[in-house]
Amino acid sequence: IDLTGKYLVPGLVDMHVHLREPGFEAKGDIESETAAAAKGGFTGVCSMPNTNPVTDNGVVVEYIKSVAAAKGHCRVYPAGAMTKGLKGEIIAEMGDMVEHGAVAFTDDGRGIQGAGMVRRAMDYGQMFGKTFMSHCQDDDLVGDGQINEGAVSTRLGLLGWPAEGEELQIARDITIAELTGAKLHIQHISTAKGLDMVRAAKAKGLPVTCEATPHHLFLTEDAIDGTYNTCFKVNPPLRTAADAEALIAGVVDGSVDAIATDHAPHSDWEKSREFELAPFGMTGLETALGLVITNLVKTGKMSFGRMVELMAIAPRKILGLDQVTIAEGSVADLTVFDADAAWTVSEDDFASHAKNSGFKGVELTGRATDVFVGGKRTLANGVVC
Ligand code: NCD
Repeated sequence: IDLTGKYLVPGLVDMHVHLREPGFEAKGDIESETAAAAKGGFTGVCSMPNTNPVTDNGVVVEYIKSVAAAKGHCRVYPAGAMTKGLKGEIIAEMGDMVEHGAVAFTDDGRGIQGAGMVRRAMDYGQMFGKTFMSHCQDDDLVGDGQINEGAVSTRLGLLGWPAEGEELQIARDITIAELTGAKLHIQHISTAKGLDMVRAAKAKGLPVTCEATPHHLFLTEDAIDGTYNTCFKVNPPLRTAADAEALIAGVVDGSVDAIATDHAPHSDWEKSREFELAPFGMTGLETALGLVITNLVKTGKMSFGRMVELMAIAPRKILGLDQVTIAEGSVADLTVFDADAAWTVSEDDFASHAKNSGFKGVELTGRATDVFVGGKRTLANGVVC
């Protein structure tokens, strides 16, 4: 293979992906969404548990692993639900899930509401040495909020989803992590103030990490202004330009540990509904690498080394994956990208089953060309195999 002019890096891992199988295959499935991962340069993804049935026991974990082994185009690391049915009432079968290969626990899809339940989930998760990944959404404050609460939501006549609906839970979770000693990971952080709380927790020496998505870094609520485009409806919502700027500063200075996409495929008919009825979520696997290279590396804000830290090393460390230290003689997962490849994001080109990207029509520089997973080539010259 001729890699002249290309970069060869440790395989990228996306620690926040909705694969939709089992249960929501009309949106996407393990085969289609891991193909999207390979096309985007990823060698592994952590799958979220808001499947149907919910990934809250070993059988579902085993199902995901077996479909991934048979049809997947990358490694799949299942995250288990913290509570039964993601309802926030009863702790899920964590031990059973760990035995079957769950790598972490999360309330993603719907935040745990009660502080007592957070404490119990952290205590149990800790027993199994797993990170508590928190979705951070206070239902009392968020209610039926559709987009960031502020001038844009008022102008458009849409119910607001206030920053405080996220920040309150970040504060709560950091406080309870300090009480329990649990490893806490804040998912899809979207506000400047939330990031300041994470910074303060890190400064205290607490094992608190966070991830930011490309859409919270490179899009703002203004994308929805005048368009009512449901592709931009996402949880947590796109925030202000000041928030995005603060998140980018955090990515550069190390306060944000990882970049994760929260890839959330939905079917065309669902996203064609009126704004209030369309589901939250946008895809991200196929655009993340190009967005980061274009907006952060090519602009001189950070190095390729920092990019590898954010997209390959930190996700493995936070999830405790064994590939962090590779034993001599084992086969590495690798990503090859062309940092100068210019391309335009087009839905015709997506390997994902879904088309709900927030970046359609955007011109990017930098794209994965080849991916190797455990010695097998999963992307060859940009074509999934
Ligand atoms: C998630 C999904 O579609 O599964 N959507 C999203 O906007 N992040 C669920 C959720 O977190 O609301």
